[in-house]
Amino acid sequence: MPAALDQHLPRDWWTSAVVYQIYPRSFADGDGDGIGDLRGVLDHLDHLEHLGVDVVWLSPVYRSPQDDNGYDISDYHDVDPVFGSLADLDEVVAALHARGIRLVMDLVVNHTSDEHAWFEESRFSRGSDRRDWYWWRPPREGHTGGEPGAEPTDWRSFFSGPAWTWDEATGEYYLHLFSRKQPDLNWENQQVRQAVYAMMRWWLARGVDGFRMDVINLVSKPATLTDGDASHAVVDGPRMHEFLHEMHQEVFAEHPRAFLTVGEMPGVDVDEARRYTDPERQEVDMVFQFEHVDLGIGPGGKFDRVPVTMPQLRESLMRWQTGLAERGWNSLYWDNHDQPRAVSRFGDDDPVWRERSAKTLATVLHTLRGTPYVYQGEELGMTNLPFAGPEELRDIESLNHLAERQAGGASVEELLPGVREVGRDNARTPVQWTAGPGAGFSEGEPWIGVNLNHTEINARAQVGVAGSVLEHYRALIALRHDEPVVARGGVTPLAMEHPDLWAFGRDFGDARLLTLASFTREPISLPEDLLDGWREADVAISTSPEAAAGVQDGGVLLGWESVALVRRG
Ligand code: NOJ
Repeated sequence: MPAALDQHLPRDWWTSAVVYQIYPRSFADGDGDGIGDLRGVLDHLDHLEHLGVDVVWLSPVYRSPQDDNGYDISDYHDVDPVFGSLADLDEVVAALHARGIRLVMDLVVNHTSDEHAWFEESRFSRGSDRRDWYWWRPPREGHTGGEPGAEPTDWRSFFSGPAWTWDEATGEYYLHLFSRKQPDLNWENQQVRQAVYAMMRWWLARGVDGFRMDVINLVSKPATLTDGDASHAVVDGPRMHEFLHEMHQEVFAEHPRAFLTVGEMPGVDVDEARRYTDPERQEVDMVFQFEHVDLGIGPGGKFDRVPVTMPQLRESLMRWQTGLAERGWNSLYWDNHDQPRAVSRFGDDDPVWRERSAKTLATVLHTLRGTPYVYQGEELGMTNLPFAGPEELRDIESLNHLAERQAGGASVEELLPGVREVGRDNARTPVQWTAGPGAGFSEGEPWIGVNLNHTEINARAQVGVAGSVLEHYRALIALRHDEPVVARGGVTPLAMEHPDLWAFGRDFGDARLLTLASFTREPISLPEDLLDGWREADVAISTSPEAAAGVQDGGVLLGWESVALVRRG
């Protein structure tokens, strides 16, 4: 273990940490085949060190047919050749550790690939020893397998179409909440759980520092599967807490090094999240919850958009702040590889306002209580890409949605706005390193289009440049490290009735912090009582010197700017 990594940390060391997410396919391409890889990661470690992040969460690099870009794993103990080799991964771990950065692997165990040996054995015959490792069911009574409506339940997959696929050879259906190439593992079977825990121990022994657990609160299915909303049936299932505690005992309880466990949990609410992360229950360290990113979902599902106002967004996130104030811990994020770009969605990506609003989103997130996550390119203020048509899309979720709805008579023109707004490909365009060809991502033909705005928005134009989005992120990360009030302080929501001002206080011992953030282009006259006692306070961070002066001298917060003030005593 390199000396740079301190292993004598408090159990909750991650309260002052910031996590950076790498989606390897889109991060950097080291071998010129147009697809990001581990050599590409090694090429950009200076960037991570400059930012000052504590942890890297690496989206899946395991062997995979890449049906869902690696979230369909066919071998948990190897690296897919498209990303490199196990030796490359060992090198990444060692190089990160040498810089004092920990590595968290993505743990995808709600499902495997249908090309995983476990599933191949399971589907081989009804009598297979591994048959019960997955969810096999006969056709619905009175129906013939394979015909429409014969599925065991009416559940829909998250990626369109039925959640069941007919297997002609053995005359049964298997369950897949995601694509048909992602069959769900049966966690009721103790051997499955033990195999997962053994695999996790293997990775920890190899040097990784924890896991981000993909859709982990879906792994406990009800004893009987019945018609109805699939999400309702599978979210926070009956044995969920038992399974996570068992995992903790089997994998982490005796683990000698500092580690981090993050449960990605769609549909989780505040009360359940508190239980999952209550340290006394020993389940996971923090949740990754979806409430604020699910606000815009309309009656027709994810791609049917309804408008979301800032007060709605604020109400949701602040309720999570107060709900987990005494017990439990939350991850803080605006975007990731499944969400559109933060500045296009929650900020204002008009060129005049883009940088200011990107920085202001960062100010809010990074001065809240919880562990902030930076998704690759967010620290540059990268934007959505206005995909011209289906031929520019790559994501199975968007493509399946288009195919299904077009088969039902909808036109591409009707469907594209929703896909453009929230399609996952927005987050998956290559990281913009330079203004040069391919944005410095690859010397080959990138697997997905590069945003043309890389000539303006790129890392080279921002590193070390005062006032850049990147340097603002860097300052915020340093602030969390240096100010216990940011890392550990209590939170008081303020001015919650204001339509455009997001304000809150933090307190820890005798330290107080006040965050003021504008979510509009117009200047905001700050309510007088908000500034009582703060006019002489120190500026902990601001989006510009003018923004800080405007607040302290004039009581005005300029459009899309933000300021955090700090005082003691
Ligand atoms: C959540 C992951 O973040 C997403 O990318 C993936 O498609 C699903 N889980 C299925 O693994």
